[in-house]
Amino acid sequence: MIEFKSVSKHYGGVAAVRDFSLQIPEGQTLVFVGSSGSGKTTLLRMINRMVEPSKGQVLIAGQDVQVTDAVKLRRSIGYVMQHGGLLPHRTVQDNVATVPRLNGTAKQTARLQALELLERVGLDPKLAKRYPRELSGGQQQRVGVARALAADPQILLMDEPFAAVDPIVRRELQLELMRLQAELGKTVVFVTHDIDEALLLGDTVVVLKNAGEIAQIGTPEQLVSEPADDFVRDFIGFDRSDRRLTTVTRGGVKYVVDATGRPLGLLGEEQSPAAVQGQAEGDLQAAQGQARDQLTAEASA
Ligand SMILES: Nc1ncnc2c1ncn2[C@@H]1O[C@H](COP(=O)(O)OP(=O)(O)O)[C@@H](O)[C@H]1O
Ligand SMILES: [Mg+2]
Repeated sequence: MIEFKSVSKHYGGVAAVRDFSLQIPEGQTLVFVGSSGSGKTTLLRMINRMVEPSKGQVLIAGQDVQVTDAVKLRRSIGYVMQHGGLLPHRTVQDNVATVPRLNGTAKQTARLQALELLERVGLDPKLAKRYPRELSGGQQQRVGVARALAADPQILLMDEPFAAVDPIVRRELQLELMRLQAELGKTVVFVTHDIDEALLLGDTVVVLKNAGEIAQIGTPEQLVSEPADDFVRDFIGFDRSDRRLTTVTRGGVKYVVDATGRPLGLLGEEQSPAAVQGQAEGDLQAAQGQARDQLTAEASA
């Protein structure tokens, strides 16, 4: 488990994160979603000590990260950033092998493992001898994921990893991550400003306002069916015209769904008294599960 205990980070007099507390259970994908400047990157980087808190503590498995060896800590946590962060003068294979090599794995072993990892993230191992500049943006991000997984970390930190690629490639990468995560069961902390991405990938989604203030925390289903306030409602974008919202009826309950068929919420509260609420939530989850299965099947087809 990762735990933030009353964590603050100040730059000069300005708070990037103010008094933030959260527990992240093992093996799930937790998404921080919020607009630019809301403190997402700062929160993420405090987990692997790339940023040191001004106040409070971050604990991993009960241990304060401040008292761990920063270098060891960083090598034991996978980290993927927006622009891959690959070393330009190293081949794809050697980029992926970097951390295992630093951890003492023999060169040949590390290189063989790198080839397996490339396949695992959906890349042709033939690309292994190329340099990062010889890959597309989407391919570079896949290499970034492979590299982050190379030391078989329990924790994977991802900072807007798919934000810089075009929408079709982004969707492929999102589905690939879902497939990988179903296999690997890592603790993934994923940062995005894209609410659709957050709802698709998150087991738990944390909507952030300024300075890491939590507007709402919940499952995607909870956020869309019971947004905590107008801020969350606006962020989810029930009113956005590009969503092409329609309704479907399942099990006697009416849902709002977006253009991809993803359920966004229930319609007609007065028709769904508390007694059927549980049933309705079950349906909503099933519907979302189906939508995910479909997308995953599409991706692997
Ligand atoms: N190294 C820094 N020096 C000064 N201010 C910073 C630094 N890093 C982040 N900030 C400020 O802290 C706030 C949160 O930043 P950040 O965590 O990067 O937000 P996000 O990732 O959500 O866009 C922003 O206002 C940003 O300008
Ligand atoms: Mg950021």
